[in-house]
Amino acid sequence: MEILLAKTAGFCFGVKRAVETVYSEVENGGHIYTFGPIIHNEQVVSDLEKKGVVTLNSIEELLSVTSGTVIIRSHGVSEEIYKIIESKGLNLVDATCPFVKKIHRIVKEESQKGRQVIVIGNSKHPEVEGIIGWCDAKKPAIVIESHDEACNFTADPNEKISIVSQTTFNFNKFQELVEILSKKGYDVNVVNTICNATEERQKEAKDISSKADAMIVIGGSKSSNSQKLYEICSRECENTQFVQTSDDLNPDSIRSVSRVGITAGASTPKNIIEEVQNYVRLNF
Ligand code: F3S
Repeated sequence: MEILLAKTAGFCFGVKRAVETVYSEVENGGHIYTFGPIIHNEQVVSDLEKKGVVTLNSIEELLSVTSGTVIIRSHGVSEEIYKIIESKGLNLVDATCPFVKKIHRIVKEESQKGRQVIVIGNSKHPEVEGIIGWCDAKKPAIVIESHDEACNFTADPNEKISIVSQTTFNFNKFQELVEILSKKGYDVNVVNTICNATEERQKEAKDISSKADAMIVIGGSKSSNSQKLYEICSRECENTQFVQTSDDLNPDSIRSVSRVGITAGASTPKNIIEEVQNYVRLNF
C-alpha cells in the first residue's frame, strides 16, 4: 500500500510556537494558565492539564486569578485582556502568532486615524473577537462574513474604510467580498491578512485526496480548520474519514485499497500523525 502524507499536515508555525511556549513555561514552574485552550486538540490540552496548566475560559475566570503566568494563545486576544493581566500584576507570556499580531497593529492604527475597520471573517471565532478588540471604542469594527452582509453594508458617503481578514478566511471569498465593498464608492484601503499556511494545506489536501483511494483527515473534534479539510477531501474522495487518533480509524475503508492519503489540521501534533501513519503502514 502506498501512503501519501501531506507535507503541510499538522502544526503551522504559529501553533507550534504557542504549544512550545506552554511546555517551556511548565518547565519554569509556578502557576500556569492559558487564556482559552492553547489549541483545539484534546490530547495536548489534557497532557498540559496533567502538568498543572489551567485553561481560563472567560474574563471572569481570568479576574479570579491572583498569581502566576497567563499565556495568550496563537489566536490572540483583545487589548482589554492585556490590560486586565497587567493590572492584576500577573506574568504575561504572549504566544499570539506574529501574523495575527500584525493585524492587531493595523486595526489599531487605522482605527486611530478615524477609519472604519471592516474585518472579513467569522464574528464568533476567537481570533476575530481578539482583532475587533484593538479598534477605538468610539468606532467599533464591523465584521462581514457573507455575500449578503457585504451587499447590505452602508455608511456615510465620506466614510474611509480599511479592510482586513481573519487569517484563515478563504481567499476567493475574501476577494469576492472586497470587490462588493469596493464598488460602493467609499475610500477603501484593503490589506490581505490571510495566512498562506491554511491555503497551502487546503491545496495539498485537495491534490492528495484526488489521487487517493482512501483519505484520512486527522484533527480535533472542535478544530474548524480540520473540519474544512475534511469537507475538501470528501469532495475529491468519497472514502474520506475524520479521526482524532488511530483508535478512531475504520479499518474496513482502508483494507482493500492501494493508495491512502493522510493530512491533518493545524492543531494536530506530529506524534499523532506518525501514530496514524505507522498504524496504516503496519496493519494493511
Ligand atoms: Fe499563524 Fe497562520 Fe498558523 S496566522 S497561527 S501561522 S495559520
